[in-house]
Amino acid sequence: MEDKVDLIYRGKSYKFPLINGSEDEPAIDIKTLRAQTGLITLDPGYKNTGSCESEITFLDGEEGILRYRGYSIDDLANNTSFIEVAYLLIFGDLPKLDQLQKFEDDIRDYALVDEDFKIILKSFPKSAHPMGILSSLTSALIAFNPSSVDINSEKDFYEAIIILLAKFPVLASWTHRKMKGLPLNYPNYDLSYTDNLAYMIYKMPNKDFRASTTLVSALNKLLILHADHEQNCSTSTVRMVGSSHAGLFPSIASGISALWGPLHGGANQAVIEMLEEIKNDGGDTKKFMAKAKDKNDPFRLMGFGHRVYKNFDPRAKIIKTAADEVLDELGINDPVLEIAKKLEQEALEDPYFVDRKLYPNVDFYSGIIYRALGIPTEMFTVMFAIGRLPGWIAQWKEMRFNKEPIGRPRQIYTGHKHRKV
Ligand code: CMC
Repeated sequence: MEDKVDLIYRGKSYKFPLINGSEDEPAIDIKTLRAQTGLITLDPGYKNTGSCESEITFLDGEEGILRYRGYSIDDLANNTSFIEVAYLLIFGDLPKLDQLQKFEDDIRDYALVDEDFKIILKSFPKSAHPMGILSSLTSALIAFNPSSVDINSEKDFYEAIIILLAKFPVLASWTHRKMKGLPLNYPNYDLSYTDNLAYMIYKMPNKDFRASTTLVSALNKLLILHADHEQNCSTSTVRMVGSSHAGLFPSIASGISALWGPLHGGANQAVIEMLEEIKNDGGDTKKFMAKAKDKNDPFRLMGFGHRVYKNFDPRAKIIKTAADEVLDELGINDPVLEIAKKLEQEALEDPYFVDRKLYPNVDFYSGIIYRALGIPTEMFTVMFAIGRLPGWIAQWKEMRFNKEPIGRPRQIYTGHKHRKV
């Protein structure tokens, strides 16, 4: 039988091809819908709209499955390093030893940023949110590396990828140091990518610093879990901006801005702020559960619910275990963790959350780990961005290599008909 979908409109029948993804996800190909029928589709928030075909990440929200390039997220989180995952996402396969060595060496070679970045950084008030600073500094990378990326030149494009992966953690750690009023650290070339990130964040001029295994292993896991998540808001932004043939760096800067919002990456900061609020209010979780369910109250249970997952977010499971390990090893007894556990328990048993399939998402527990690791709340989303960087690069690359057309949705106009002044 022919794989077509019939559409009957005003008594006339139209056929549209059916597309099947490699995991048997069916979709109607409506590329010719408007040309054939004069109709467009209306789908605010793109809840039913596939914006592209992609080979990078597979996500089954009903089953709670997440895989990068075919590898399951727990396999990667337990058995690889973040930089191997970055290579996997961007180039399609896990690196062989010599490829990994070259990749890491190249990143080390490009890790210095122009000293004038310090002038830009200095001009921000100390109170500026690190995500705003990071987005600006990432945009500024183009000014310091002005040759636009020629995606037809393998060498140019590789260099752009390396520049970003190398300089981004430096800029990110500098936003943190600036906020804290601390001297800026330069990368340490003897260290691995994640070790080096920890070094740049924590190293004090008056003390030696050696990242503990717990710290590096937790950071590594967190970065891997955040590395890609198919067509989420920030990634779609990166692809959309890049589809106008804007360069890689400004496209990533736009992704950072999209990630900042509390409904997306900013939720990790919002979760801790919410848990703090509940604690300071006396710890009555039931009161806040009631607020979350009250349609007249804008309060939402941050860290709960997901556009795609209608089951446990598989990342949340891994993070919850990692959070327990980190708190245990560091001997931290965090009262907000107790509140988080109580809230989770109550929500998982509450018909409002059960009926709407609202489960804890990745951001519910990540903030607790960051807090235990001494990372300030405003920096949580920056940590997310460091993790998401390889995913954004991989998705931008795929979009350009697939020669996708400029992103330009249509609309249904609901304003005035023609009128005169
Ligand atoms: N607390 C209370 N009610 C909720 C929540 C929540 N956290 N999330 C969804 N709902 C309700 C919502 O009110 C709606 O109810 P009704 O059907 O009665 O109108 C129903 O559940 C469906 O919600 P929606 O807003 O239509 O779902 P969405 O797919 O548009 O939004 C979401 C997904 C993640 C934006 C939303 O669940 C949310 O705001 N969660 C809190 C913020 C958060 O944790 N964001 C992080 C997402 S994961 C990491 C990332 O993407 O970066």
